[in-house]
Amino acid sequence: MKAIRYHEHGDADVLTVDDVPTPEPGPDEVLVRIHAASVNPIDTYVREGGVEPAGGLPHVGGADMAGVVETVGDDAEEFAVGDRVFATGLGLFEAGSYAEYVAAPAESLAPLPDEVSFVEGAAAAMAFATAWRGLVHRGDLAVGDTCLVQGGAGGVGHAAVQIAAHAGATVVATASGDEEFVRSLGADAVVDYGGDDAADRIREAVGGDVDVVLETHAAANVETDLDVLARGGRIVVLGEEAPIRIDPGASMTGKIADADVRFMSIMASRDDQRPILERVGPRLADGTFEVEIEAAYPLEAAAEAQRHVLSSGSHGKVVLEVA
Ligand SMILES: NC(=O)c1ccc[n+]([C@@H]2O[C@H](COP(=O)([O-])OP(=O)(O)OC[C@H]3O[C@@H](n4cnc5c(N)ncnc54)[C@H](OP(=O)(O)O)[C@@H]3O)[C@@H](O)[C@H]2O)c1
Repeated sequence: MKAIRYHEHGDADVLTVDDVPTPEPGPDEVLVRIHAASVNPIDTYVREGGVEPAGGLPHVGGADMAGVVETVGDDAEEFAVGDRVFATGLGLFEAGSYAEYVAAPAESLAPLPDEVSFVEGAAAAMAFATAWRGLVHRGDLAVGDTCLVQGGAGGVGHAAVQIAAHAGATVVATASGDEEFVRSLGADAVVDYGGDDAADRIREAVGGDVDVVLETHAAANVETDLDVLARGGRIVVLGEEAPIRIDPGASMTGKIADADVRFMSIMASRDDQRPILERVGPRLADGTFEVEIEAAYPLEAAAEAQRHVLSSGSHGKVVLEVA
C-alpha cells in the first residue's frame, strides 16, 4: 500500500511517499481501507520530534481517518467487513492514517453514518472529539453558562462554538477575521483576540465574566482568560508549543480567586474517543453539527497540507483524500 512516512524528524520536507506492506490487524484491531484523513497540528509536532512515536522511525503519522472495514481481528467483534467507520487518536501509539490502510484499535472506531461523507468524517473526528471532551468532560459546561472559545474559526474552535451553542451556553468566540463565519456557527459574539484590551471587549460583548474557556492558544491568551473568568470558572488548555505564565499572587487578592486551569489530551483519552464520536456522527448526519472543509489535498500532497495547517488564518479543517 501507499503510505506517507518520515524516516527522520524534521520539517514537512521529510515526508515521503513509500510503498509498504499492508498491515495485519491484531486480535483487537480492525483493518480499515482509508478514504480520507485529516491533518492536525499534533501530526506536525510528532513529525518534528516533539514526541517520539511508539515503534520509532520510519513512522506513518496522522490521527484522523474515515473509511471502510476491510478485515476484523478475532476479538473485534463489534465491527463487520464493509462497515463505514471514523476515528481519531491514531498516529502516536501506533501507525497513523496518512496511508491507504490502517490497523486501528477497535476501541477507537465509531460508525460513520451514511449521510456523512468520508471527508467530513475524517475532518470532524479530532476537532469535534477534542471540543466535546474539552467543554463537556473537562470544562463541565452547563446550560446557561457563558463560554469563551479562543480561536473560534479553527478546526477545534469551530466545532467548540457549535457544541457550546447547542449545549445552551452563551458563546463568545475570538477570531482575527471572518466574524460572519464564526457567528454562523452559533456564536452570540465574536471578538478579535489581538490587542491589549481583548478582555474588556470580551466582557462587553457578553455583559460580564465567562464560566468556561476553551483555550487553543494558551501562551498568548491565558492572561486574558484569567481576567475574564468568573469566580469558580474553568479554563481548559488544549496545549501549544510554548509555556504559559500565571502569576499566583493574583489569587490572593481575589482577582483570580478559585480559578481552575485544566489540561486535556484527546490522543491519550482512548476510552472517550468512541463514546464521543458515537454522539458526533448522528449530529453530523442530521445537520446539527457541520464541519467546515477549508482545503482538500491528495494523499501524496501531505507535506503541502501540513504546511497549510501551520499557516495563519485557517478556517475549519484541511483533509487528505486517499481514494
Ligand atoms: N489537547 C488536545 O487534546 C488537543 C487536540 C486538538 C488540538 N489541540 C491543540 O489546539 C490548538 C488548535 O488546534 P486546531 O486543530 O484547531 O488548529 P487550527 O485549525 O490550525 O487553528 C487555527 C486557528 O487558530 C486561531 N488562532 C491563531 N492564533 C490565535 C490566538 N493567539 N488566539 C486565538 N486564536 C488564534 C486562528 O484564528 P484566525 O484565523 O481567526 O486568526 C485559526 O483559525 C493546537 O495548538 C493543537 O495542537 C489540542
